[in-house]
Amino acid sequence: MLALADVDAKGFEKTPEELPPGISFSTHIVDVANQARVNEWAGDVVNEHGCVDIIINNAGVASVASIEEIEQEDFNWVFDICFFGVLYGSKAFMPYLKMQKESYIVNISSVNGFVPFPNNGPYNCAKHAVKALNQTMMQELRNSSVKVLSVHPGGIKTNIARNSRVLGSAAENDGANRFASKFDRVASTTAEKTAEMVVQGILKNKKRVLVGTDAVVMDILTRLFPQRFSDYVGKIAMR
Ligand SMILES: NC(=O)c1ccc[n+]([C@@H]2O[C@H](COP(=O)([O-])OP(=O)(O)OC[C@H]3O[C@@H](n4cnc5c(N)ncnc54)[C@H](O)[C@@H]3O)[C@@H](O)[C@H]2O)c1
Repeated sequence: MLALADVDAKGFEKTPEELPPGISFSTHIVDVANQARVNEWAGDVVNEHGCVDIIINNAGVASVASIEEIEQEDFNWVFDICFFGVLYGSKAFMPYLKMQKESYIVNISSVNGFVPFPNNGPYNCAKHAVKALNQTMMQELRNSSVKVLSVHPGGIKTNIARNSRVLGSAAENDGANRFASKFDRVASTTAEKTAEMVVQGILKNKKRVLVGTDAVVMDILTRLFPQRFSDYVGKIAMR
């Protein structure tokens, strides 16, 4: 049984045909940046479904601009959804998850959670913060029934680039379209494969899942050459 939440009701229109037959689900309109609404949603899910075994905090957005140029509001938009949304979801469902014999909090970070990319400052900061939140909860929930999975995808073929706010000089000369096309060229893993890897991560009791060969390679290079690899990413991405 799935309890699906999104801020955008349109996203649910195709849900019945996208799910395998026989899967029952409920849909909920939730802005994850609104803590009161997230708390209410958690209560609704338990009332409707009886219990919760897994929460996947997945919603995310990006504002593309340099730290120098970005307006505070555009920084906050990303941080409120990508970090506080994940924190609110983790906290709201934790008491219900603790009631289960075995349960999982799955929080979606990114490769940006261990290596930053230029002109993506709010997203880099939020995804690093999600990684820290995940590791903190792993320490604190060590003796409970709740496990935590930190997911770090590389480029995944989704609408994230098209849904991004491309701002300031990054927006010049049709920057939004150039950003989306560049993303489409490098995003090599499907959303279906990502979901499969998350499920495998849960079944194998993993704490961390890297999605895609790009994520695995970036993880190795970050461990070997933390500063030099970050400098290299900056040089390549700013071309
Ligand atoms: N696509 C990638 O390459 C990639 C890589 C690493 C991590 N991620 C992460 O994966 C997650 C999913 O992103 P995606 O790639 O599917 O992007 P997407 O833009 O295709 O989907 C994001 C979803 O989040 C929803 N959403 C946005 N704001 C919301 C809010 N305030 N409340 C509730 N829902 C909201 C959107 O309506 C949309 O359905 C994000 O956390 C993203 O940061 C994506």
